Amino acid sequence: MLSKKLQDALNEQMKNEFFSAYLYMAIAGYFESEDLPGIASWMRVQALEEMTHGEKFFNFITEAAGRTDFRAFDAPQNNYETPLDAFKFSLKHENFVTSSINKLMDLAKAEGNHAAQIFLQWFVTEQVEEEASFSLIIRKLVRIGNDGNGLLRLDEELAQRVFVPPTATA
Ligand code: FEO
Repeated sequence: MLSKKLQDALNEQMKNEFFSAYLYMAIAGYFESEDLPGIASWMRVQALEEMTHGEKFFNFITEAAGRTDFRAFDAPQNNYETPLDAFKFSLKHENFVTSSINKLMDLAKAEGNHAAQIFLQWFVTEQVEEEASFSLIIRKLVRIGNDGNGLLRLDEELAQRVFVPPTATA
């Protein structure tokens, strides 16, 4: 059973996760327009993962006998100055998601909702991994600087990322 307050916060986080998918598809569109299909593909995979995150919240709310509540979100940013700018923007977004997951965990703890805490634990760990992967790409882009060949090598590297369906991961 979910309190009204916790249900509201879970629905808000479901929105954040689905918005993340929308944002990363917008960023994929930017990379496609920059003729960097490998980085665009990496972002598309990220968007698919975010869809599964949103669905996890959908499933938990439903299984906990709560009620889903879909909310509007603003248009994502479509244009970026540079690839580095796009990844910095993404990391900032992940920092926001991490902070909202942490607040959600604090609320679940304050309410003594053990099931919600166990559910949210997966996201706490996931956020560490996501921030690390965005940060690593940022460091690579900083090192690449204005080296066009370096950027093309990164594009080839990031093209290798494949989407792993959630049933195989969690
Ligand atoms: Fe599901 Fe990247 O937060």
